[in-house]
Order: sequence, then structure tokens, then C-alpha cells
Amino acid sequence: MKIEASAPSNIALIKYMGKTPGNRPANPSLSYTLEHLRSFVTIEPIAGERDEWRPLSGYQPISLSEKGLGKFLNHFARLKDHWRVLGAYRISSANNFPSDCGLASSASSFAALTEATYALAKATHPGLEVSNEELSVLSRQGSGSSCRSFFSPWAEWEDEGARALDLDLRLEHAVIVVDERVKEVSSSNAHELVNTSPNWVGRTSRAKERLEKLKVALRDGDWRMAFEICWDEFLDMHSLFETATPAFSYLNGGSKEVLIKLREIWGRDGDGPLITMDAGANVHILIRPDQIRAAEQWLDGFKVIKSWGE
Ligand code: DP6
Repeated sequence: MKIEASAPSNIALIKYMGKTPGNRPANPSLSYTLEHLRSFVTIEPIAGERDEWRPLSGYQPISLSEKGLGKFLNHFARLKDHWRVLGAYRISSANNFPSDCGLASSASSFAALTEATYALAKATHPGLEVSNEELSVLSRQGSGSSCRSFFSPWAEWEDEGARALDLDLRLEHAVIVVDERVKEVSSSNAHELVNTSPNWVGRTSRAKERLEKLKVALRDGDWRMAFEICWDEFLDMHSLFETATPAFSYLNGGSKEVLIKLREIWGRDGDGPLITMDAGANVHILIRPDQIRAAEQWLDGFKVIKSWGE
């Protein structure tokens, strides 16, 4: 028996940053699901009592830190417990994009592990049916941002789990890769440090207010307003990092160069991409389908992973 599953990543425009135990978020978040950036997981039974992990071949090379491995296998153990699945298994996983550099690999890999373990549970208990909303709640316990990957294209997450956001707007995504190295401060560490920042005061209400305004802007097609909200939001999150004790930073020279260039496009054309950054150096953009040709020019000369073809 070999179980296979895959799940997409997602990019938050209103960020999940700061949490209480069990990955309960300090504020609601809103994301776009990235169907082209995916994680793949297989599960096979093995002899013995201990679950094990190995990289899945055929995808981007992946290595997990001891902490990362523990978090992944603990999530599997929690799910096995939840669905009363017995035995030991080998989990193999990989992404079709570089991991741990602000491309939200934790979202897709935990969502894929949750999906795969659900498939394993169904094989054990025929007739088991679990909704995406319930899978989202379970996945959140492994890694918060993964709970938004069960809905596409838009997801909103306030407390226990995410839900689909009813928004008739399809976008294209690109990430400008300025650094592929594994980041020094994991997003889990960032969650722990942000409340030491003086800017933490009022963070929850700022995020809530932006979320409501962003939904209105996206529904009304007010693209400039959407850009301004996203810009303020990711800089708000990064200002928490820069002013935490100890302070830490993800922005490097390459990120700043890209941000300045993309910001100039808005100044020059009065139009441009939605811009955001996660806990990493790379810069994400979301564009309307009618901006694809222009985006080819904007991104010229940069290393880019994008959702559209040539
Ligand atoms: C900056 O979901 O990776 O990408 O719950 O500790 O696993 P854990 O954190 P994680 O945090 C992601 C934070 C973010 C913003 C976001 O995706 O909303």
C-alpha cells in the first residue's frame, strides 16, 4: 500500500503573525492559494514502531532540520491518534519549489501531510468523510498557515480553521527569488518574538482593519487600494521583526532592489502588481491576468518562479 497526496502553498496578503499555543492566530489572515507551488507526500507502512521521514525523489532537493523533522513527524503522530491509525510508516515528501526561504513550504507540506494521512485513515476506516473545514482545523495544529491551503483561490482564517472566501477574482502569482538559502530565523521563531516589539501594540486591530478594507477593495476592483493595503501590511509585519528584542531581519539588498523597482512601476504607470513578502527575503507579486505582458517586462532580469507560462 502506498498513499499519495499533494497540496498547494498559499501567500497571505493579511499576515498570520503572532499566536497562542496550538497555532491560534493573534489576528485574522487572508491568502491566495498558489496551485503551482505544491508539496507532495507519500506514506507507506514499515516494520517496527517508529515513523520515519525521507526526501521524495523527483522534486527539489529537501533537507529537514532536526526541529523541522520533529514538527512534521509530531503532526503525523497527532493525526494518526486522531483517526486511530495504527502501525509505523515511512513518510516521503518534497516540494516542486525551494523550501525554507520564504516560499511558504510549511503551508503546503503540512497541508499535504494532513491530506495524505486522511487518505491513510480512509483506507483504514472505509466510509470516513471529513470536510475541508475539519481538515483545515487539524492541519492548523501542525503549522498555522497550512490551514488556508484547503480552499482555493481565496481563504480567510480567523480562529480554529480557515474557510473559503467568496471572491470572484483569479490572479497570477510570481515570486522573485533573491535568496534560496535556508532562513536563519524560522517563522515559528518569528511568531514568538514579535510581541517583544513596541509596534506589537495595536497590531491585531491594524490587521483586522486592513482585512476588512482589502476585501472591499478586491470586491470593488479597487486595485490601487488593494496594493496600498498589502504594502502597508507586509511592512507592518517586517517592522515587528526589525524592532523585536532581539531584532532580526529578512530583507536583504536584493529584496530592497526589487521592492524599489516594483514601487517605481506604480509611481510611473499608476498601475502595478500587489506586492508582499513572507518571513523571508523573496518578494511575491500577484497580478491580474491582463497584466501578464507588462509583468514580463517588470520581472526581466530577475530569477522568478511564476504561475503563468511563457
Ligand atoms: C509569515 O504557518 O509557518 O508566512 O504556525 O509556527 O508553523 P507555524 O508558522 P507558519 O507562519 C507563517 C507566517 C507567514 C505569514 C502567513 O503565512 O500568514
